[in-house]
Amino acid sequence: MDHGRTSDSHAHTTDLGGPVREGRHAPRRARRHAHLRARYGPWAVVTGASSGIGRACAVQLAEAGLSLILVARGRAVLDQLAADLTARHGIEARVIAVDLAGEAGRDAVLAGTANLDVGLLVAAAGFGTSGPFLASNLEQEEAMLTVNCGAVLVLARHFGRQFARRGRGGLVLMSSLVGFQGVPHAAHYAATKAYVQTLAEALHVELGPRGVDVLASAPGPVHSGFAARADMRMGVALQPAAVARATLNALGHTTTVAPGLLSKVLLGSLVPLPRWARARVMGRVMRGMTKHGEGTTTDGGGPASGRGEHRWPA
Ligand SMILES: NC(=O)c1ccc[n+]([C@@H]2O[C@H](COP(=O)([O-])OP(=O)(O)OC[C@H]3O[C@@H](n4cnc5c(N)ncnc54)[C@H](OP(=O)(O)O)[C@@H]3O)[C@@H](O)[C@H]2O)c1
Repeated sequence: MDHGRTSDSHAHTTDLGGPVREGRHAPRRARRHAHLRARYGPWAVVTGASSGIGRACAVQLAEAGLSLILVARGRAVLDQLAADLTARHGIEARVIAVDLAGEAGRDAVLAGTANLDVGLLVAAAGFGTSGPFLASNLEQEEAMLTVNCGAVLVLARHFGRQFARRGRGGLVLMSSLVGFQGVPHAAHYAATKAYVQTLAEALHVELGPRGVDVLASAPGPVHSGFAARADMRMGVALQPAAVARATLNALGHTTTVAPGLLSKVLLGSLVPLPRWARARVMGRVMRGMTKHGEGTTTDGGGPASGRGEHRWPA
């Protein structure tokens, strides 16, 4: 696998992208911003923009001067972010507060962007579950499948067609280190990320000649809302801003980026192993990161944790 650069050296004092330190890196940053605007502007759609990696991508795109359509369920958070980024960076920002687990939510994104010249989709909305597969909450798993895969399918196809017609654009799909093999105790979450990884790899080849850059971003553990929602324990982990920076830097240069040293080390230690062995290693890792006890099943499938959602490292 090829990896992108992970230049995270331009630290900012807030997660809203400023004030920016001027210095010897300023010309390079200006060039990078101009490239992002020219290649992927003027509008970018960011799903999962209310938190974590999606929010960090939105902030960095606003910093580069792209206008934004911010998508997630949490309207108040998105409205505040839109107001802050508009004031701070002089861009336009619109909010589409929807649940991507439903068809209506996905349709609202298509309708809400119909008259805008969109050049970039960052599909970062997603969540995880973990624990014994037989004890999983089926409703929760189906919602995860729809958000992590179904919505990505709909949006990547819609915007991919649009970008191919205009001969320019980018698709960023959020994969994960768990997407490269089966992961016992997070079996279904890992399977959703394998879907995203495989889709992105194929689209990179298929859409590249049409002028559309497609990137899979495959981080290891990241400090975000992910662990809390999934009731997981996150140890050493990257910051969302570092993941966003590595991801946006890699777009147009590579197929897959493993952001940051931690992701590279974790992936590099797994890659030499055959897939069956990786699955066993990841199963041990995952078991350690989740404390799903024995108990009664929530839907008749086997031992359960007693929780609707579980934990993981992502
Ligand atoms: N954190 C990690 O360790 C890690 C590692 C590898 C990959 N990833 C992937 O990175 C992506 C971003 O995760 P994150 O770490 O940034 O987690 P996060 O902080 O929890 O952010 C998840 C985002 O997705 C949105 N979202 C969740 N369910 C949604 C729904 N049904 N409809 C619309 N929006 C929804 C959330 O917004 P609302 O709650 O407001 O809807 C939030 O903006 C995910 O695809 C995740 O699988 C994460």
